[in-house]
Amino acid sequence: MEITIQKTSAPKQKPDQTKLGFGNYFTDHMFIMNYDEGEGWHDPRIVPYGPFALDPASMVLHYAQEIFEGLKAYRTAEGKIQLFRPEKNMARLNLSCDRLCIPKIDEEFAVKAIKTLVKLDEDWIPTAEGTSLYIRPFIFAVDPHVGVHAAKHLIFSIILSPVGAYYPNGIEPVKIFVEENYVRAVVGGTGFTKAGANYAISLKGQEEAEKQGYVQTLWLDGVERKYVEEVGSMNVFFIIGDEVVTPALAGSILGGITRMSIIELLRSKGYTVNERKLAVDELVEAHKAGKLKEAFGTGTAAVISPIGELKYRENVMTINDGKIGETSRMLYDTLTGIQWGRIPDTMGWVQTVE
Ligand code: COI
Repeated sequence: MEITIQKTSAPKQKPDQTKLGFGNYFTDHMFIMNYDEGEGWHDPRIVPYGPFALDPASMVLHYAQEIFEGLKAYRTAEGKIQLFRPEKNMARLNLSCDRLCIPKIDEEFAVKAIKTLVKLDEDWIPTAEGTSLYIRPFIFAVDPHVGVHAAKHLIFSIILSPVGAYYPNGIEPVKIFVEENYVRAVVGGTGFTKAGANYAISLKGQEEAEKQGYVQTLWLDGVERKYVEEVGSMNVFFIIGDEVVTPALAGSILGGITRMSIIELLRSKGYTVNERKLAVDELVEAHKAGKLKEAFGTGTAAVISPIGELKYRENVMTINDGKIGETSRMLYDTLTGIQWGRIPDTMGWVQTVE
């Protein structure tokens, strides 16, 4: 399939690279492709960035049949454009498609669509320290119909946003609140997908955390409310003694691409990494015994985000004196080094956009 390109006649002014924040600005163009039953995915095109015209009865507005992905394009010092494991994001998009009864996309074609769009809007890739171009592919149901069934008409779109750090204080350690009253996901549900609805469900807990002065929520399992799962926008890792622990992907946790990469990176450097069940009580005990050395979150948006404080019930646990730990720093430097082309990509993770 050929991607047709309609260029904008009114390019926008680019934002100040030192004041980007996250997800506030969007580039000049967007990718769109339609699905219609009987025809499959068709009509891939790049058009000027702008609103969709949606029927008020569009099913996504009523039943939330929507999924998305998140990845980034990086500008290297030599001027190359790099993507980080985009094929993994597209594989995960199809995993989400399957769970949400959305017709699958051609993964290779979707990577080509991303590259074509990024190339067209390459002047929007910021170059200031720590900035990148966030890529947001998403699919949603547009059948004008009131009634719950899988859509027969959908849109696959990709938009781009020049971004700085997800957390306002960059790599400074964040304070996380362990949520007990609300749950994010249960096994058998959609927790392992990137369904927009997962994030809507998380808002209430997020509000609670913020009210208490915390940046985000650490979710516990939805059944026993005992085992650590993930944070709102990232997976979590803990260093307990000499062991690096991250919750095992048992169906309710998002399989992060950064999570996967960090596990591979740590193992390649000789660390013992275990994906297993981790009770929040074990964290409390480890903290009391002085064994909880570091904690950090991982995600495309968050990159590596050290956790400086964790609050669970009456326990306020300060981790590594609220400072960036040695391993978190090493991981941040290695991962971002590969992404921005500052160090060789010995893992074979990067794809260039020509
Ligand atoms: C990402 O890390 O790319 C995400 O999609 C998380 C989102 C909450 C910004």
